[in-house]
Parts: sequence; C-alpha cells; structure tokens
Amino acid sequence: MGFKDLKFPEGSKFLVTGGAGFIGSNICEAILDLGYEVTCLDDLSTGKQANVDALMGRKGYTFIKGDIKDLDTCMKACEGIDYVMNEAAWGSVPRSIEMPLFYEENNIRGTLNMMEASRQQGVKKFVYASSSSVYGDHPVLPKVEGQEGNLLSPYALTKRACEEYGKLYKKLYGLDTYGLRYFNVFGRRQDPEGAYAAVIPRFIRQLLHGETPTINGDGKQSRDFTYVDNVIEANLKACLAPSEAAGQAFNIAYGGREFLIDIYYDLCEALEIKKEPIFGPDRPGDIKHSNADISKAKKLLGYDPDYDFAKGIKLAIAWYKENL
Ligand SMILES: NC(=O)c1ccc[n+]([C@@H]2O[C@H](COP(=O)([O-])OP(=O)(O)OC[C@H]3O[C@@H](n4cnc5c(N)ncnc54)[C@H](O)[C@@H]3O)[C@@H](O)[C@H]2O)c1
Repeated sequence: MGFKDLKFPEGSKFLVTGGAGFIGSNICEAILDLGYEVTCLDDLSTGKQANVDALMGRKGYTFIKGDIKDLDTCMKACEGIDYVMNEAAWGSVPRSIEMPLFYEENNIRGTLNMMEASRQQGVKKFVYASSSSVYGDHPVLPKVEGQEGNLLSPYALTKRACEEYGKLYKKLYGLDTYGLRYFNVFGRRQDPEGAYAAVIPRFIRQLLHGETPTINGDGKQSRDFTYVDNVIEANLKACLAPSEAAGQAFNIAYGGREFLIDIYYDLCEALEIKKEPIFGPDRPGDIKHSNADISKAKKLLGYDPDYDFAKGIKLAIAWYKENL
C-alpha cells in the first residue's frame, strides 16, 4: 500500500523531468522523503520557481534549468542516473489544438531525446507520463489498455507517439520503459491560474475569489479524478517493476467516476459558498465520460492506490485554503 515504505538500492539516483510542475514536484519531494537523491530538469515553461524553491535547500536535491528539446542537456542530466521519470510536457487539450507544431516538438521530440539519453547513459528504468487522452473516442467504459479509439487532439497524439517509442525502445534497445496513462490528476500544487488550468483547482480558486466558475457543457461529463499521491506511487512502483512488464502502458487512476456537476456542488459545500455556475459550450477534443480499469497496473506494477476521490479532495481543498 502506498509508497512511503518503498526501498531502492542504496545510493539510487533519480531524475525527474518537469520536476518544477505539479506532478513532478510532488514526485521529487516523495523521493527526498524516502532518502534518495533526485535531480529536477525543467525549463520553467509552465512550471513554477516556487515549486523548486520549496525543495532547494533539501539534502540530495539538484535543480537543472534546461529544455528536454535539447539532446545535450538530456545527455548531461542522465549521467549517473538510475531511474528517470519523464513528466516534462505541455498539457491541455485545447491549447494543443491551437498550437499543434509546438506540441509535436516539445512533447514528442522532448520525450524521445530523454529516452535516447537514458539508453546511451545506461539508465535502469525509464518511466514516462502518458495520458487517458490516448483512448480518444473509444466509447467503452471502463477504459482498458488495448482498446483505444480515434484520437481527438494533437496532445493525445503526442502521448500515443511517446508510447510507441516506449515500446520500440524496449524492443530494439532493451531500455525498460513504462508508460503511465494518468487520468485527470488533482492535488496540492496544481496550478489554478490561467485559461488552461485544470478544472478542480480552477473552480476552487474562482470560488475562493468570489468569481463564478464556468462549466463547459452540461456538467454531466464524468472523469476518474485521481489524487496525486496515487500517481507518485505508480511512478515509484514502476521503477521497481520487473523488466517483463516494460515496453507497455498502464492506466493510472483510482478506478472511480465523478460527475463534474457533483464536484462543483461538493466544492461549494466544502468551501461554504452558495453560487450557481455558468454553463458554457462543450470543449472540442473532450470526451463525455472516462474511467479506468486499473487491473493491469495492479497486476504488473503492484499499484494499489490509497486515495479515493473523497479522501483526496479533502486534502486538496485543505491545501488550497492555506495556499491560495
Ligand atoms: N495533470 C494531469 O491531470 C495529467 C493527466 C494526464 C497526463 N499528464 C501528464 O503528466 C505530466 C505532468 O503534468 P502536470 O500536470 O504536472 O503539468 P505541469 O505543467 O504542472 O508540469 C509540467 C512541467 O514540465 C515542464 N516542461 C514542459 N516542457 C518542458 C521542456 N521542453 N523541457 C523541460 N521542462 C519542460 C514545465 O515547465 C512544467 O514544470 C505531463 O506530461 C502531462 O502531460 C497530466
């Protein structure tokens, strides 16, 4: 259960790309808490200096400001590293529809550079962030690995391309790669600001600041919202997974399903705010429902998430109340 008792060989060294972002900074912190060294490689394009500053003084933490689009930077960062967790990418489906060329270069080429550098530097395990968006328009619920539909955005295509490279790097070069298909992650440090902010932190910020949140569509869309600690667990357990499980992708979620409209009213109640939302148009590239079958990750990675939505959202709200 969880990740707080996981053990790695003494002196293990980790590299987290995108470590100044929401998920990456939480992974870096968890590695330091376990007592191992971690290097964070981030270009601070969507990440925050504050996430780096919070860890800067801690023993075993190194920060490199650099871009994974640059192979030399990746090669240097991977020197002497045992485990890579590649979180660096630009998120947001709508933004990828506005700027597909950048997504291609940043998310695909960047990840490929990191895989190549990991191979050349003899990294033991390469774990990388994929996304539930790779399921595209496949209607079946829950989502099961191997049943993917047509893609709906350039973002989803970047994640699928990374998975294909992940498969090839195992097959051709023997690099142990593990793709983790995150389903709508939420929790402490997720950025609530800006047009592309994820829905939970955006609603919380707007409600706390007296603004009226807009729900895209009718609010009856559902998602498998996943607390960030479950994602940390999946990353660390993938680093310890057997080689036979490599070259594959895994759903990482809790395995539940929450409706957006219910979340909205739950947040209002928890924050003691009474306010009706505005309903806007559906967003292009979005699917109506999503929830995950997590049995593959349970079986092959030993993933056993501790936090259901109710447990996670309480912690997230408490964090935002203190930090917003
Ligand atoms: N948050 C979610 O719900 C979710 C869901 C599915 C997949 N993911 C994936 O998880 C990963 C982390 O997402 P997040 O929510 O923490 O996003 P985030 O924006 O908070 O973090 C991403 C980090 O990557 C950095 N970065 C981006 N491009 C870079 C580059 N070329 N070189 C170096 N650093 C770069 C950014 O500065 C940022 O710190 C991403 O790959 C994302 O696609 C996230």
